[in-house]
Amino acid sequence: MSSIKTFFNSPYTFWAILTLPAIPLVLGLSSDDPEAIKALLHPTGEFAARFMIIAMMITPLMMLLKGWRGPRWLMKRRRYLGVAAFAYAFAHAILYLIDEGAVAFTGGEISKFYIWTGWIAFLIFVPLAVTSTDGWVRKLGPRWKTLQRFIYGAAVLTLLHWAALHEWGGVGAAMVHFVPLIALEAYRLGYNLRRQRSRVV
Ligand code: HEM
Repeated sequence: MSSIKTFFNSPYTFWAILTLPAIPLVLGLSSDDPEAIKALLHPTGEFAARFMIIAMMITPLMMLLKGWRGPRWLMKRRRYLGVAAFAYAFAHAILYLIDEGAVAFTGGEISKFYIWTGWIAFLIFVPLAVTSTDGWVRKLGPRWKTLQRFIYGAAVLTLLHWAALHEWGGVGAAMVHFVPLIALEAYRLGYNLRRQRSRVV
């Protein structure tokens, strides 16, 4: 029994789970299909967004499901989820650059709403991923948490980026993914407001 527990609690097992969606992506790259790179833009973008959303849902879930082990188990692995979100976003950006080539920065491509929102979301991800190590957490102290709050900006930009795809045809898929997070954040806001009020009274 304890060896099963050790297996599930191992960070390597969690990393293996986070890597699973990359397997069909790598296999897709080795196909002869000339559209293979373009086709991989979708799953890499989706998994970047999904892992970011799951990482952001953990704190409000802990508030909602007080005492439950699931959210606490995830909380210990939240940084891994953030790094995985960055890794998929990085692959997404590289695939986009390979697919578009020089056009990515010319011909007005970057001025398109759904493109610049993606780039800014990605640029926000970079310092968050770089400072995800224990060394940076120690070095930055309380400023680390402040820096991590930039993820909210990246999330809003990702939502807009996704929704604006294909002349705003991405709204449905983006909302399906973001509504649980929005609902949990609304719950968290209400919870904090109630606590503040009860302290004042
Ligand atoms: C690095 C800058 C980025 C660029 C240039 C970019 C560009 C693109 C492009 C061209 C598409 C596909 C459009 C099509 O269907 O033809 C796409 C889709 C998508 N991107 Fe990005 N993106 C960027 C960053 C991000 C980031 C940081 C995230 C998430 C954290 C993200 C999430 C998504 C999602 C979820 C989709 C939709 C996938 C689907 O259709 O199911 N993107 N992006």
